Amino acid sequence: MIIAIDGPAGAGKSTIAKKLSKQMGYMYLDTGAIYRTITLDLCNRHIDVENKELLAESLSEIDMEYTTDHIFLNGKIVDDEIRTESISQKTSHYSSKSEIRVFAVEMQRNISLNEDIVLEGRDIGTVVFPNADYKFYLTASEEERGKRRYKDMIDKGMDTTLEEIVDSIKKRDFNDKNREIAPLSKADDAIEIDTTSMTIDEVVEKMVNCIKGGVSAL
Ligand code: DC
Repeated sequence: MIIAIDGPAGAGKSTIAKKLSKQMGYMYLDTGAIYRTITLDLCNRHIDVENKELLAESLSEIDMEYTTDHIFLNGKIVDDEIRTESISQKTSHYSSKSEIRVFAVEMQRNISLNEDIVLEGRDIGTVVFPNADYKFYLTASEEERGKRRYKDMIDKGMDTTLEEIVDSIKKRDFNDKNREIAPLSKADDAIEIDTTSMTIDEVVEKMVNCIKGGVSAL
């Protein structure tokens, strides 16, 4: 069983996907974390991502491992290191590169083999698993998404302002929606949920009801 959840930054995807996967007893895959870890590695090694040959070679050398609890790069947990503002912006840029997308999509499909799984990202229902059993597209107003991201960052002890976060979300939305390959878009057959004035539990309940009721699209 494959459940695809897509949507822009700050729409609540991660928290909701995590909760839904727990409730269903499924594995959870945060595909953004994969793009972020690739970006961190390429930055650490100062790889010029415009050099296609070097990029392809560098991707084949990446030593990363995804588990439900942590993401590892060269054997080290990088859960927090991949969440900085600088890595968020760079990831949005790097993830437009075809070599990186091919590498990341293959990894996502391999992890999902023989699993009941909830995947969240930008292109799950459109590219990674166009035949997913259930597809959801989560949205929320820019202001609400900014507030949520800001709270997350402050809770993690990061130094930032609401203005900075809203600005960063706008930039990422633009990049993610306008890139040539696999841009963020709602699959025609995805169920769209505007989470602006909903609690996490309300969204999860709505999704569970759709799944139990066999409603795969609205
Ligand atoms: O979901 P996130 O904020 O952790 O994602 C970080 C960036 O990774 C996002 O701005 C675009 C990219 N991404 C992507 O291109 N495709 C995905 N399936 C997931 C993330």
